[in-house]
Amino acid sequence: MGKRVLRTKLCEMLGIEYPILSAGMGPTLIGETTGAPVELVVAVSEAGGMGVLGGAGFTIDGLREAIREIKSKTDKPYGVDLLLPQKLDVGGGLGQKGPNELPLNAILKSMPKPYQDWVQKVKEEMNLPDVEIMVKMNSTTMRPKEAIQVCIEEKVPLFCAGLGNPGFMVEEAHAHGMKVLAITGNTKNARRMAQSGIDLLVAQGHEGGGHTGRIGTLALLPQAIDAAAPVPVLAAGGIGDGRGLAAALAMGCVGVWVGTRFLATTEGGALEVNKKRILQSTDEDTRVSRAYTGKTLRASYNKFHDLWDGSGLEPLPFPTQVLISSALLASFIEGKKEEYVGGLAGQVSGLIKEIKPARQVVEEMVEEAVDILTRRLPESVKAK
Ligand SMILES: Cc1cc2nc3c(=O)[nH]c(=O)nc-3n(C[C@H](O)[C@H](O)[C@H](O)COP(=O)(O)O)c2cc1C
Repeated sequence: MGKRVLRTKLCEMLGIEYPILSAGMGPTLIGETTGAPVELVVAVSEAGGMGVLGGAGFTIDGLREAIREIKSKTDKPYGVDLLLPQKLDVGGGLGQKGPNELPLNAILKSMPKPYQDWVQKVKEEMNLPDVEIMVKMNSTTMRPKEAIQVCIEEKVPLFCAGLGNPGFMVEEAHAHGMKVLAITGNTKNARRMAQSGIDLLVAQGHEGGGHTGRIGTLALLPQAIDAAAPVPVLAAGGIGDGRGLAAALAMGCVGVWVGTRFLATTEGGALEVNKKRILQSTDEDTRVSRAYTGKTLRASYNKFHDLWDGSGLEPLPFPTQVLISSALLASFIEGKKEEYVGGLAGQVSGLIKEIKPARQVVEEMVEEAVDILTRRLPESVKAK
């Protein structure tokens, strides 16, 4: 394509060419891949957007290594996303002391009995293999204070909090030349987060993949923009092409935060089975469930959702529920029960028909949005 110009205030703030951020997408399974790995971050930043590392999948040391790898592969700005628990000291509680790794089966023995029994019953009934996976107790989610420190020491250009309000760290981040972004799914939090001093806010609608709220993107954006003003807002949830980008800009957003579309790229970190499921999905093939993390989370529909619904159990709080779901997901994968595996993904899955390089996704989005905003929209307005 001929070089297009599509600049907003976001581009000035972050030093990027296009107002497109690839979302920070964390681990697809404990100890396994991250949805937004170094390769995706570098590809998006090199293409003129901003890549954001899904830092929730890393150990503390691994996070530092990944950040340094990004710096070695691109001079362009990038971001790091972490999931902050409500109370930083709690950090999942589990990770502050003791060994760096623990076998999941051993941890499960400390869970309430009905949950242990349910996992065991499912494994027996489905004849699932016993998979020993090691839980990282030194992960960024278990030790959020240390993870934040790493980001500050490495002067990460954009710190993103996927969960929690990062207002408490804004002053220190600014002192290190960093910007801070938070994500919300409702106006109450938009107002609260904006007042805490953050630089940018992502408003994510119900359509989005991963943790998600109850308000649809179209209804949420103008309300979040009003609530957060003067803090600039990026749109998220259901954006998969230039039409979504153009719409977000027309609503008054300064840019977009895009998850599922970038997950389904050559560089995206999803397991192959999950990428395949996104390609096969229609708009109706995702579902919100608390089965995975204890919080409402959208994933490609699969039989694990029904299995959990039939358990009669209340989800445990985040991140403890992750241990329950991971115990089974690891066995489903090992036992080749693909119909029980579906990764985090948004309703926009139905729009995604091809795995493409991330650069191509960025370029096509820009091309289409510019065409809509400069040619198609003005023409249709003139025609009236
Ligand atoms: C596989 C996957 C993993 C995700 N993990 C995280 C995460 O670790 N932190 C976070 O802030 N958001 C996470 N999200 C949500 C995304 O950041 C983003 O808000 C969402 O994908 C936007 O909606 P979309 O999927 O319709 O583009 C994840 C989303 C997906 C699809």
